[in-house]
Amino acid sequence: MTFKELSEKRHTIKTYLPNNTISDEELQKILAAVYLAPSSNNLQDTNILVIRDQKLKEEIANDFEGFNTQNVKDASALFLFVGTPFKMQMLNNGQSIYDGTMKFLDIPEADRQKMKEGVLQYYGVMSDSTDLVHIINAAIKFSFTMLAATELGYGSTPMLGMQKCKLEKTLINKAMMKQGQQVILALSIGVPAPDDARNKAQANRIRLPFEETYKIY
Ligand SMILES: Cc1cc2nc3c(=O)[nH]c(=O)nc-3n(C[C@H](O)[C@H](O)[C@H](O)COP(=O)(O)O)c2cc1C
Repeated sequence: MTFKELSEKRHTIKTYLPNNTISDEELQKILAAVYLAPSSNNLQDTNILVIRDQKLKEEIANDFEGFNTQNVKDASALFLFVGTPFKMQMLNNGQSIYDGTMKFLDIPEADRQKMKEGVLQYYGVMSDSTDLVHIINAAIKFSFTMLAATELGYGSTPMLGMQKCKLEKTLINKAMMKQGQQVILALSIGVPAPDDARNKAQANRIRLPFEETYKIY
């Protein structure tokens, strides 16, 4: 499927057919594609929690807004994109990512040092943009996941409609994420209910006039 076909095929699913599981093989296909997503300074600061277990899904569904609860329960899998704020991620693995990158860079030692100083200086200053890094990186993984699932024939639902603090508490209590990390976005995937009126309506792709959405200079 081309990118054009993928983006035309995807739309938000409001209702899934329940009791449809996703195989290990399909999950691996999605996760392997998403693994290659880019991240700012290659920080790789997004953890993806995939919830396929029905009991756990039902429990976690209670931490979503009412309009998303059934959707989460009936989905084949729920993906939670957990971001690690910049400072925490730098402490975790900033150095090892930097060293790993340098290993493959065939440049003289003096240039290497200069580059290192530049990077450390950039990271040393907690600018406004670094506050956003983990959110942006998670959103990119999220987009890749949505399209990878579409390619396999799954419908999907992006979801911000969650009780974020409650959900984070649940996940920390279950040791599924660490204190300080944040749930940035959720995505359910599953088999769309074919006759559902809201699914059909969603397929109309309501958008502002195309020409109003960009400017080319
Ligand atoms: C970040 C984000 C959060 C969203 N949150 C929800 C949600 O909580 N529940 C829901 O049913 N749809 C949610 N949506 C779906 C949007 O309403 C939908 O993408 C939009 O109406 C465009 O329709 P389409 O996805 O079918 O093209 C969300 C979409 C995005 C991108």
